[in-house]
Amino acid sequence: MQFKRSDFPEDFLFGVATSSYQIEGHAFGGAGKTHWDTFAATPGNVVRAENGARGCDHYHRYEQDLDLVAEAGFDCYRFSTSWARVLPEGRGAVNQEGLDFYDRLTDAMLERGIKPCATLYHWELPSPLADLGGWRNRDVAGWFAEFTEVIMGRIGDRMYSVAPINEPWCVSWLSHFLGEHAPGLRDIRATARAMHHVLLSHGRAIEVMRGLGMTNLGAVFNMEWADPADDTDDARRAADVYDAYYNRFFLSGIFRKSYPDLALEGLGEHLPEGWQDDFDTIAAPIDWCGINYYTRKLIAPNGGPWPHHHEVTGPLPKTQMGWEVYPEGLHNFLTRTASEYSGDLPIFVTENGMANNDILSHGKVDDPKRIDYINHHIAAAQRAIADGVPLQGYILWSLLDNYEWALGYEKRFGLVHVDFDTMERTPKASYNHLKHALRT
Ligand code: FCB
Repeated sequence: MQFKRSDFPEDFLFGVATSSYQIEGHAFGGAGKTHWDTFAATPGNVVRAENGARGCDHYHRYEQDLDLVAEAGFDCYRFSTSWARVLPEGRGAVNQEGLDFYDRLTDAMLERGIKPCATLYHWELPSPLADLGGWRNRDVAGWFAEFTEVIMGRIGDRMYSVAPINEPWCVSWLSHFLGEHAPGLRDIRATARAMHHVLLSHGRAIEVMRGLGMTNLGAVFNMEWADPADDTDDARRAADVYDAYYNRFFLSGIFRKSYPDLALEGLGEHLPEGWQDDFDTIAAPIDWCGINYYTRKLIAPNGGPWPHHHEVTGPLPKTQMGWEVYPEGLHNFLTRTASEYSGDLPIFVTENGMANNDILSHGKVDDPKRIDYINHHIAAAQRAIADGVPLQGYILWSLLDNYEWALGYEKRFGLVHVDFDTMERTPKASYNHLKHALRT
């Protein structure tokens, strides 16, 4: 690696992330059905119709996995808690086995000197709640508050940090407008409602955790830099609209108690009645801001319905996901988020990483492209720190190759290779290089 720990401020945190449905093995431990199980069981939604039933079998192998986190020298581990594992029906009866699992997992982190950074919801909505309209139903905020109370009532005393919801754009837009993730809807009214309710639910969860006396609570936003596909005013406007509903909508809600006009142009008439009255809850004060960053998009205008645009393929080198490698976007977002939204609040890069077609050969995986990717993004983060951004940590996606949602087990994001037949873990070259950098 082209950096070492001592290049960073002393209390800067390095970490690695995963999420429950992607690694645990949802078939184990009495977890209830989720909308991802049925989405995956519907032909055409997921590559080879794969689901998270087995994941990486982390439910049984978590100690070995946390050894890998500790061994590399990471300070923190960003994990998520499965709503349906804790409350199989989404509400009401608690699955004690599920709570016990997160209790053991938490203690196993602490025993290894790893700071637990929890995300309450990383996408697997319990099916009985999906039946009631899921994120489209305003009641989801109350259901989510109940889940927050139950799970954090058990492990909240030992969390280093907590964010309620991973990536509000993915929960709402990707899943209700583009239809690429569960529940697979393509409907603008559903989208607008989900976008608002996801923020309302975030706010309610923050209130619940404050009530439990918890501190260091944040929000995690995913961001994609939007560049115009060409040098015309129309293309610039198309990119601005993309930026408005993708990046600015959720930041504005939480930090400014408003939604951007460019997003309201298309979404305004579909938002639930009285949405303006929810901002006191949505904007409940938080302690840090998390940014998940992977890539940028080139946006071109078109004559279709709002948002009147589409993505075009860009010229930069791409990862296994087909995503352009664009480290400058990370620098742009870190500086812009601090100067326009979060101010002095600590910022964390809560996800960054790349998928690669990694091959295990003679017990080794060479992944020079990932090493490069990390080097360039860390350099962008360092430039942001030099520019005065209060960046306090950098968390990689992901510890393990895992279930990459609609793309199944094919896209490998891990620092550690997983053989999905034997479940054997093999640290890749990137893991070993990071270990060297973090322990220097
Ligand atoms: C993020 C998700 C994570 C993983 C990475 C590649 O949007 O939070 O679960 O899928 O992308």
